Amino acid sequence: MKVQASVLWEFGDNWHPSTIDLDDPGPEEVLVRVAYAGLCHSDEHTRRDPDARKPMIGGHEASGIVEQVGSGVEDIEVGDHVVFSFIPTCRKCRWCVSGQSYLCDLGATIATGVMPDGTFRFHGRGEDIGGLAMLGTFAERTVVSKNSCVKIDPTIPLDVAALVGCGVPTGWGSAVNVAQVRPGEVVMVYGIGGIGANAVQGAFHCGASHVIAVEPKPFRREFAESLGAEAYATHDKALARVAELTNGQGADAVIETVGVLTAEITAQCFESTRKAGRLVLAGMADSFSDLNVQLPGQFLSLYAKQVLGTLYGGCNAHVDIPKLLDLYRNGQLKLDELITRRYTLDQIAQGYQDMADGTILRGVVEINPE
Ligand SMILES: NC(=O)c1ccc[n+]([C@@H]2O[C@H](COP(=O)([O-])OP(=O)(O)OC[C@H]3O[C@@H](n4cnc5c(N)ncnc54)[C@H](O)[C@@H]3O)[C@@H](O)[C@H]2O)c1
Ligand SMILES: [Zn+2]
Ligand SMILES: [Zn+2]
Repeated sequence: MKVQASVLWEFGDNWHPSTIDLDDPGPEEVLVRVAYAGLCHSDEHTRRDPDARKPMIGGHEASGIVEQVGSGVEDIEVGDHVVFSFIPTCRKCRWCVSGQSYLCDLGATIATGVMPDGTFRFHGRGEDIGGLAMLGTFAERTVVSKNSCVKIDPTIPLDVAALVGCGVPTGWGSAVNVAQVRPGEVVMVYGIGGIGANAVQGAFHCGASHVIAVEPKPFRREFAESLGAEAYATHDKALARVAELTNGQGADAVIETVGVLTAEITAQCFESTRKAGRLVLAGMADSFSDLNVQLPGQFLSLYAKQVLGTLYGGCNAHVDIPKLLDLYRNGQLKLDELITRRYTLDQIAQGYQDMADGTILRGVVEINPE
């Protein structure tokens, strides 16, 4: 069938509205009508990367309604509401069966968007088109593995549900699962986008006494304050405040969620972490950049600091997506507030410009709105 989608056709191109072809679902696959898709910075990493596969349909934080199921799909039916998991979960590999489905071996091809059988579902201009994270949700419809779908309660609004595909679990889980913030701790969050805002929420859930945000963009500092954090424009100012709060020791946990991780930002985060404190790196570096995590080894060992990388905030999609939506329904997790501007499918480049300008928190693309 023909579908409208937003495609990166080649390096240097921007998100481009295009009409393309979509295959029918094969065995163990489903066709989903995409309802809403969030604008996550990770798609922009793909756009900026000269080595990333193109053409590519972006989008990996989304919700939708199942329209057709292929053979061998038993636990998903037409009409089911789903949130996509940006890491598929096979429920068989070592990682899946040991409670680390965010590391599922099927995730190996999320950057190229090729399906597990080595073929593609989107085509156009005589080429196969990848779907980012094996999803490609900047499209009216997409065909994905059943392993990429998490069924949700159909009474949950699909716009907020979309955010629980990536930004919410990644940020929230960075604080809750990875930093394992404890009551009374002082937590710093570097970068207040869709990931950082949820790291702030996660830190407060765990009982943090103070969350100190570092964020250069004024709108986003105000957003952090609306969640109960104190926000500073620079590392120096934020660290001075943390020193005041901790008798000069530094933050118990530091969560890095900046758009593009650099050596300078890593060094700042490391400096802010107290002895035996936890530094969680969630924000990603550009894959084509030089070494961007360089640490003074003597302080790493002598101060017993812990430096932890994280994917998906250590969340297991099938357990944590419904759990986060329950917290939302109970009024314990803010999701509506995160959506600060809405776009149409042909406005994605504008949405990413607004993200770069810091004039939105999370942009959401209304693809087939409810
Ligand atoms: N680890 C994972 O599983 C995972 C999942 C999703 C996204 N990500 C990554 O998380 C990062 C954040 O994503 P997002 O969608 O929230 O991006 P975003 O662009 O909306 O937010 C990043 C924020 O960092 C701020 N920032 C830039 N330089 C800074 C500095 N020196 N100090 C403090 N803040 C600074 C920016 O102003 C911006 O507000 C991206 O790198 C994204 O690719 C990682
Ligand atoms: Zn994402
Ligand atoms: Zn697996």
